[in-house]
Amino acid sequence: HTQRRTISKQRFLTEFSQCLVDFVIQLLPTPEELAVKENVRGLLERLIRTIEPDSRLLSFGSTANGFSLRNSDMDLCCLIDSEERLNACDLVTMLGDLLERETKFHVKSLPHARIPIVKLSLDASPGLPFGIACDIGFENRLALENTRLLMCYAMIDPARVRTMVLFLKVWCKRRKINSPYKGTLSSYGYVLLVIFFLVHVKNPPVLPNLQQMPPLRPISPEESTLNGHNIWFFDDISLLRQRWQSSNTESVAELLVDFFRYYSREFSYNTGVVSIRAGLLRKDGKGWSSEADRGTARERNRLCIEDPFETDFNVARCVTRDGLYTIRGELMRASRILLSRPDRAILALSQLCE
Ligand code: GTP
Ligand code: MG
Repeated sequence: HTQRRTISKQRFLTEFSQCLVDFVIQLLPTPEELAVKENVRGLLERLIRTIEPDSRLLSFGSTANGFSLRNSDMDLCCLIDSEERLNACDLVTMLGDLLERETKFHVKSLPHARIPIVKLSLDASPGLPFGIACDIGFENRLALENTRLLMCYAMIDPARVRTMVLFLKVWCKRRKINSPYKGTLSSYGYVLLVIFFLVHVKNPPVLPNLQQMPPLRPISPEESTLNGHNIWFFDDISLLRQRWQSSNTESVAELLVDFFRYYSREFSYNTGVVSIRAGLLRKDGKGWSSEADRGTARERNRLCIEDPFETDFNVARCVTRDGLYTIRGELMRASRILLSRPDRAILALSQLCE
């Protein structure tokens, strides 16, 4: 016979906010880990330059946007600044061979993938208890830009945005709903769900819409266009922090409770499209209607999250019917745990991430 005690809402939220902050801090990468990763990036860059002298190797994804957890993998992008360059397929093959000869990495080259990449991994060692996993892609300039956009959002209100995002990243990994290959959602997709919620669902908003703010000076189409996509956004964050202040004062715990409530009960999965650029859109307005399309397209648009720049691209295209069912079940479970307010906030946290 167990008797569950509940505590007052306010006390729970205060305690839970503190728990979240403490929990997330201990999961951040250590300075040593960051230094090792930067060394690896530099080493790989020097090796690539023996094949393509005008190349640069840049970090994107979580290592570069402020949403990195301990032992997260490295996403690297190779940019080549010269006109005459090898095609990505040949480069991937050559680089794979070179790394296999010259380094201790396990190497897997995928020259014929839709986006050619080299996958690298390093076994665990005393200085690197979890090893390293790293993907090198080529000329993926849009990924560098969306990384910068997410980083800017993180910098506006790090205490709330980073805590929320990092917690959700741990949560979705522990609950096993973070595998696009198995029909659930990528980390990038979850981060977009959080930003959408903070920009477009919360009223007053916690974050401004950086893609819709007026620029400080006229921007030419050449400056704002990349591969046919409008990539402009307001990126002067120090100025923004002087001029823009959210009037939303909710704590990170309140925001998280409301995040789970919104995506488990309010968001319309059948008709809605999450767009951080334009707010809530409709599937039929984008030609992403799951009813109209049959066969594979039907599976592609169960959950719709518009990429901030590639607006005809559904970031959640890998989410299957079963995957979405599982994700929604997990969102409801999380919401239920938080609304039950166990008498110690730390219990809520460990239950959430069980
Ligand atoms: P962890 O690896 O789990 O720490 O998360 P992450 O923040 O690195 O996210 P993820 O590995 O899912 O994605 C890394 C980066 O790849 C993102 O920041 C994007 O720049 C890019 N990316 C991932 N998925 C997509 C996608 O579906 N579309 C586009 N355009 N970019 C993507
Ligand atoms: Mg990553």
